[in-house]
Amino acid sequence: MTTDETTGTTGTTGTATAPTTPTAPPTLEVRRGLGGVVVDTTQISAVDPTSDSLLYRGYPVQQLAAGCSFEQVAHLLWSGELPDETQLAALEHDERTQRALPDPVVDAVLALPRHAHPMDAVRTAVSVMGAFDEAGEDPSPEADLARSVRLLARLPGVVALDQRRRRGLDPVAPREDLGYAANFLHVTFGAVPDARVVRSFEVSMVLYAEHSFNASTFAARVIASTLSDLHSAVTGAVGALKGPLHGGANEAVMTAFEQIGTADRVDAWLTAALARKEKIMGFGHRVYRDGDSRVPTMKAELDALTAATGRDDLAALYDALEAAMAARTGIRPNLDYPTGPAFHLMGFDTPTFTPLFAASRVVGWTAHVREQLAHNALIRPLSRYTGPARRDVPAA
Ligand code: COA
Repeated sequence: MTTDETTGTTGTTGTATAPTTPTAPPTLEVRRGLGGVVVDTTQISAVDPTSDSLLYRGYPVQQLAAGCSFEQVAHLLWSGELPDETQLAALEHDERTQRALPDPVVDAVLALPRHAHPMDAVRTAVSVMGAFDEAGEDPSPEADLARSVRLLARLPGVVALDQRRRRGLDPVAPREDLGYAANFLHVTFGAVPDARVVRSFEVSMVLYAEHSFNASTFAARVIASTLSDLHSAVTGAVGALKGPLHGGANEAVMTAFEQIGTADRVDAWLTAALARKEKIMGFGHRVYRDGDSRVPTMKAELDALTAATGRDDLAALYDALEAAMAARTGIRPNLDYPTGPAFHLMGFDTPTFTPLFAASRVVGWTAHVREQLAHNALIRPLSRYTGPARRDVPAA
């Protein structure tokens, strides 16, 4: 907490360097990063820092991950209730029959340079899908739900197309006889792995689907609040998710594991990284203070994957870094910590990890866009000006 020298008010920003002309009333506290600010209500999910729990529409995410398909969770987040048989069949039909990528989307992804980050491919594809959207400019909630289902159906194809082109492989056609998770792996790898791997992947998708007013979801809500369109909101959200302080952390975890190499090198690596004041990716959280409630569920899936692949070395490295971080800083892992190595063991390239997160989180983003529009208020905060005081341009 600092004191604004000009106004005498307290805030979390640095000191003013010149007399200010505040655009925010001086009595208002500046909260950098919007920490601790409640900007709206939501009925979609609750992150409770007191119990470190996460509820989707009231259901604990662990129960949903254990007993529901990703499609059931998508219906829950969009509509408010778990689907009955008829509703689930209708959603599955819509999702399965719209998986093929429109030609302009394929062309746009293939036109990108190979060195472009896979999140650039996702962001570009969403934007192109918007320009060619079947519902045109229809702003109705029904059209936005249809757009949401199409994005859900097509993002796996985008992620897979991009990973395959970088590996020099041809695209694989989607299969309507497969559920969302199995088809995602099929279009990526050209084969459906065993059911245990499909289930681990589906659990990761459920855990990533929604997380209240995180940075990318807030970005989507800001864009939606201007009455822009759903694809613009999702395009902006993809951009926000790309950053390593948000979705990009799952890739960064794997990169760190590769740098460290083996469990016996963790201590030296961590000592050096902390001395350089680096953030250790996959650790810490803005809301959870005593551990991310999703971690134990995903860690169990990672344990199954390391056991099935005989990667005791990776399991040992994971445990060693977690223990060393706890001992040195007391900071606990977030969901990106177990998902990074889990995606690696499933066969995904490291830069593809954040697109996997995006393909799942598109459900939360679109649920929030529709909620924002249902009772819209333009999101436009104030700032406190700390630049030069009013002055005149010198006479010529
Ligand atoms: N590694 C090392 N130190 C960390 C840390 C991490 N991952 N996360 C927090 N800290 C430290 C900060 O350096 C700071 O220490 P200080 O008070 O001595 O300056 C303190 O803990 C508070 O951190 P702060 O950055 O203010 O917390 P935040 O709530 O703003 O940040 C994150 C939350 C997620 C941005 C932050 O924990 C982080 O950068 N984590 C790594 C990236 C990541 O995994 N992101 C995915 C989030 S789901």
